[in-house]
Amino acid sequence: MTEVLAFEGVTVRRGDNDILRDVSWTVDDRDRWVILGPNGAGKTTLMSIVGARLHPTSGTARVLDETLGETDVRELRVRVGLSSAALADRIPGHETVKNVVMTASYGVTGRWREEYDPIDEERADALLAAFGMSGFAGREFGTLSEGERKRVQVARALMADPELLVLDEPAAGLDLGGREELLAALTELAGDRRSPAILMVTHHVEEIPVDFTHVLLMRDGRIVAAGPLAETLTEANLEATYGMPIALTEADGRYAARGA
Ligand SMILES: Nc1ncnc2c1ncn2[C@@H]1O[C@H](COP(=O)(O)OP(=O)(O)OP(=O)(O)O)[C@@H](O)[C@H]1O
Ligand SMILES: [Mg+2]
Repeated sequence: MTEVLAFEGVTVRRGDNDILRDVSWTVDDRDRWVILGPNGAGKTTLMSIVGARLHPTSGTARVLDETLGETDVRELRVRVGLSSAALADRIPGHETVKNVVMTASYGVTGRWREEYDPIDEERADALLAAFGMSGFAGREFGTLSEGERKRVQVARALMADPELLVLDEPAAGLDLGGREELLAALTELAGDRRSPAILMVTHHVEEIPVDFTHVLLMRDGRIVAAGPLAETLTEANLEATYGMPIALTEADGRYAARGA
């Protein structure tokens, strides 16, 4: 096991408010984490630190054996495959789907002067195929539906063969079929020993892919509970996270939750 994340007392202050408070968390390379918590809990802020887009105000964040604040973040960013709404918003709408995926090798959005090897093109094609987007390679990104964009973003996040994969609400906006297809692809990825560590933020326990191993529950910038999925994703911990009684069920490795 290799530690890919080691956070110690990570705090992020904005104005008078600590939007992350004293977060200590470790992730191993075999782990597949789901991150749950109410709107504003700090999930995206935490993922921005993981993706080397944001530094803690205090505490130490080690990402892939580099300490934020003491390392070249541009190099580090390419090693973390990140899919988030904020990144998607920066993709030029006229860019082709294939270029959106390929440009991830260089940590940029929008194709400028980079040269691509045939091997890059093959990898982009294979990833688009894996997410059911082969027929869209030549389409302009801006013309895609929400669900199609999400799939392209996950393919893009995997393009640079990342050592850590971070997906911030990858299933948001997907229809039922699209969600299940994405979850099937993520389950396959999670079960593959060659896959990097995976962190996935979601609002719905129904979206936890089978074979995910750990859960991080957050509220008001703090960790409520963190650990192996089976023992940490409990009704009591969900109640502490969401401030209401929750009924949780599990069948065949898939979860469902509702107010109790
Ligand atoms: N630059 C900033 N200045 C002030 N407050 C901020 C800033 N960035 C984020 N916040 C606040 O920090 C809190 C956490 O935001 P974050 O986006 O991390 O939440 P989240 O858990 O991802 O929520 P959601 O589920 O809605 O995506 C929110 O209350 C947000 O308004
Ligand atoms: Mg968020």
